[in-house]
Amino acid sequence: MITGAPLPSWTELAALLGGGANGGLAASPWASPADRVVWFSRSAHSLAAIAASWQRRHGRLPRLWIPDYFCNASLGPSRRAGVPLTFYPVGQDLAPDWEECRRLARAAAPDLFLAVHYFGLPADMAVALEFCRHEGALLIEDCAHVLAPVPGVGETGAFVLWSPHKHLAVPQGGLVVCRDPDEGVDLPSGPSPSLRGWLAKRLVQKLAPGWLLPSASRQGPQRFEDDPPEGGLADSPSLAPKIRAMLAASLRSLPRVAAARRHNAMALLEVLSRSPGWEPLFDPGMVTPYRLVMRCKSPDIASERFDFHRSGGIPVESWPDLAPEVRAEPQIHARALALRAHLLCFFVHHGMEALELARRSARVG
Ligand SMILES: Cc1ncc(COP(=O)(O)O)c(C=O)c1O
Repeated sequence: MITGAPLPSWTELAALLGGGANGGLAASPWASPADRVVWFSRSAHSLAAIAASWQRRHGRLPRLWIPDYFCNASLGPSRRAGVPLTFYPVGQDLAPDWEECRRLARAAAPDLFLAVHYFGLPADMAVALEFCRHEGALLIEDCAHVLAPVPGVGETGAFVLWSPHKHLAVPQGGLVVCRDPDEGVDLPSGPSPSLRGWLAKRLVQKLAPGWLLPSASRQGPQRFEDDPPEGGLADSPSLAPKIRAMLAASLRSLPRVAAARRHNAMALLEVLSRSPGWEPLFDPGMVTPYRLVMRCKSPDIASERFDFHRSGGIPVESWPDLAPEVRAEPQIHARALALRAHLLCFFVHHGMEALELARRSARVG
C-alpha cells in the first residue's frame, strides 16, 4: 500500500496520550540550545508572524519579497495581514535572478527577503545574505523542503523556517529559528488546528487492509494543469502541545527517514530514467530529497507522465500553485511558469517501499 504521507508509528501515536513536550527538546535537530525558537502549526503562519513582529518593531508593514516560484496557498496568512508582496524572478536553476532583484530594489528595496532551498537542494545563501545586507533587508531562509540542517542549510538567515510536518508523520509543525539579536517573533495565540480528522484517517490507514483503501494517487488535483483548491490552510497558527510530544518521539527516526527518502528516490529514478523525454532536476543521492523532481522536455510529456504514474497508483504532483500576480505577468515570470509546466514531483517519503515503487513505476513507465 502506498500512502500519500508517512503513517505514524504506534510509539509516535502513544505520545499523543501524554502531556506536551518541551518546545526546545522537540526543536533540537533544527536549533541549538542558544537559539530562540517559536513553534507554529505551519510555516505559512511563521512567515506572517515574522512580518507582524517586524511591523510592531518598525511601525509599518514590511515589504516582503518572495520568489515567483512559490506556492500561493502558503501566502494566505501574510496576505490576510495586508503584507505587501513582491515576487522576484528565479532562473531555470531555481536561484534568484540577482540582476533583476537589484533592478527591482531600485524602485523599492525589500525589508524581508525570503530565499528557498527547493526540494531539499541547498541554495547559495551567502549571495542572498550579501544582497540583503546591501539593501538593508533581513534574510528569511526557507528550509521547509529540507528535513534537517546540513552544511549550507539553516545557517545564514536572520530567520530560518523549518516544516517538520512535511517530512515526518505529524499533522502540524512549523518552526522559526530567530538568529538576529535585534529581531524576534511573537508567540502565536489562539487555538491550534484540530487533530481529529488527521488521527481518524491515519488510524484507518494503519488498521484497514490495503485493498480497502482508496489509492493515494486519487488525492489532490487529478490533472497536471490543475492546482489544489484555494482555502485549504486552517487559520490557526498555534501548534498543538501534544504535537511537540509527537515530534520529540519521532526525532530518533530522523537518520532512518533521511536514508529511506534517498533510497526511494534513487530506486524510482532508476526506473524512470529508462524513459526518454525527462531527466532529474538534481541527483537525489546527494541530498535528502523532499521530492524526486523530473524535468520534462515539454508540458505535454509532463501531463502525460502525470496521468501514467497516477493511474499506476504512484503519488506524483505538479508544484506549485503559482500566485495570481505571477500568472498575470507571463513575460516577467516566464521561467517560474516554465518550471511549473515542466517539473513533475514524485513522493519519496519514508512510509513507501522502494521495491513497491520501482515495481509499480516499471509497470506503467
Ligand atoms: C518552499 C515552501 N516554503 C514554505 C511553505 C509553507 O510550509 P507549510 O506547509 O509548513 O505552511 C511551503 C509549502 O508548501 C513551501 O513549499
